[in-house]
Amino acid sequence: MKRMMIAGNWKMNKTDEEAIELTSELVKLVGDVKEPKVVVCPPFTSMRSVRDIIKDSNICLGAQNMFWEESGAYTGEISSLMLKSVGCRYVIIGHSERRGYFGETDEKVNKKLKSAMKHGLVPILCVGETLGDRDRGISKDIVKGQVEKAVKGLDLSQVNEFVVAYEPVWAIGTGRPATAEDAEDMISFIRSLLVDAFGDKVMDKIYLLYGGSVKPDNIAEFVSQPTVQGALVGGASLSADKFASIVEKSKV
Ligand code: PGA
Repeated sequence: MKRMMIAGNWKMNKTDEEAIELTSELVKLVGDVKEPKVVVCPPFTSMRSVRDIIKDSNICLGAQNMFWEESGAYTGEISSLMLKSVGCRYVIIGHSERRGYFGETDEKVNKKLKSAMKHGLVPILCVGETLGDRDRGISKDIVKGQVEKAVKGLDLSQVNEFVVAYEPVWAIGTGRPATAEDAEDMISFIRSLLVDAFGDKVMDKIYLLYGGSVKPDNIAEFVSQPTVQGALVGGASLSADKFASIVEKSKV
């Protein structure tokens, strides 16, 4: 059976009070769901509040970013140790908004992955091409480069769990998702890269997600593709009803 995951990326949204309200609704709606695995990634300011509300449910806690050093004079940064200490299990690394607005290079992504995995966090590695890359017909070259540089020096066959989200930049927050066929094509390409590098068995530990304008009315097309194992959801994860509906429609 295909293992599935639906992860919500709240981005820079929700005050602590709002995060508490959203999480409480989510626990009522999807707190019992085991398959797909449900992950929420609130802002750092609400990690503890969310953790306390989800603690007796099946919902898992994730973060949206981290820095690779463990501690020190890095004003404004958060380390993997700190994330672990608030009950965080997942961490989004290399989201295109971080790559685009905050100078996150493939080398930085690689360092973050190493630190996250060293401390037992499960990375949700984001990759994806821009519209310009797509127009030039180089989407696969770009994604291949991002994947290979991200996992350089890592042995994924040794990890318990690892997540890769294919998020074409032009589909994020635009209401213009990739077609399910295009998503499947790229995600099976990513799968083949990982199998070539780490062997077949590694796929037992990996989730391959699609992200970019996923909504309740299009999730079914994505998850019905053979290689797509769920979604990383931005905008629609801010509404408990929409997110719960996406989770429901991802049950296999
Ligand atoms: P979106 O964002 O669902 O709002 O397009 C997805 C993401 O950035 O992870």
